[in-house]
Amino acid sequence: MTDAPVPQQLLPRHVAIIMDGNGRWAKKRGMPRAFGHRKGVEALEPIIEACGQWGIEALTLFAFSTENWARPKDEVNALMGLINEFFNRKIDELNRKGVCIRMLGDLSGVPEPQRRVAEAAMARTGNNTGLKLNIALNYGSQQEILRAAQRLARKCASGEMAPEDIDDEAFSAQLYTAGLPKVDLLIRTSGEQRISNFLLYQIAYAELVFVEENWPDFTREVFARALTTYAQRDRRFGKV
Ligand code: FPP
Repeated sequence: MTDAPVPQQLLPRHVAIIMDGNGRWAKKRGMPRAFGHRKGVEALEPIIEACGQWGIEALTLFAFSTENWARPKDEVNALMGLINEFFNRKIDELNRKGVCIRMLGDLSGVPEPQRRVAEAAMARTGNNTGLKLNIALNYGSQQEILRAAQRLARKCASGEMAPEDIDDEAFSAQLYTAGLPKVDLLIRTSGEQRISNFLLYQIAYAELVFVEENWPDFTREVFARALTTYAQRDRRFGKV
């Protein structure tokens, strides 16, 4: 079933990816930024496929941040169009492969067409037991943490729970990633070494791997290399 680059026990359960560098990839080729994003969506397919084949439990992708609305209108529209296209074109196949889709982020702030396809994708694949594919859309980690704090504060104020009951489990249950394993490996492409408000709580003990390739050039081979790097790390979780 698998040509996994490392033995199963050394694979991460949960991989998160900041898919950076679409704009630079396009610029290098004298093409508009939107072309880079289109190539970026095309790059997704082999990575999702590899996760399924190699037995990675969860893949979380940063598709659109709460800050990305400040980009030029044309680029925002192009990204929104691509998100719709991705769901419309891919949902049958993803569903057939048992992929379970979850959206992370504030969908109430997403245009209606994208919200509708995203909600339909979640409803349709929600009971699937294969790869957990999480797509962060209108997502910001600080906002997610504040939202969790507010939800817990409300529970405390109503007497449903006591402040002392707020532990990692209770807090994690209020995040968009509730029920998912903590992130083991965070990959960022394009040589940038930043977290950019992505999964701040969930990456507490994640290994960070930064690769030079821009996202459209992130192939199955580059992914395999990142997994090999991860497998060679000595994870100590604060212990010796
Ligand atoms: C960063 O490159 C990339 C983004 C802000 C968008 C990433 C989104 C996709 C690849 C589409 C995802 C769609 C689905 C359905 C998951 P950049 O534009 O910041 O590149 P630059 O740093 O070179 O300018």
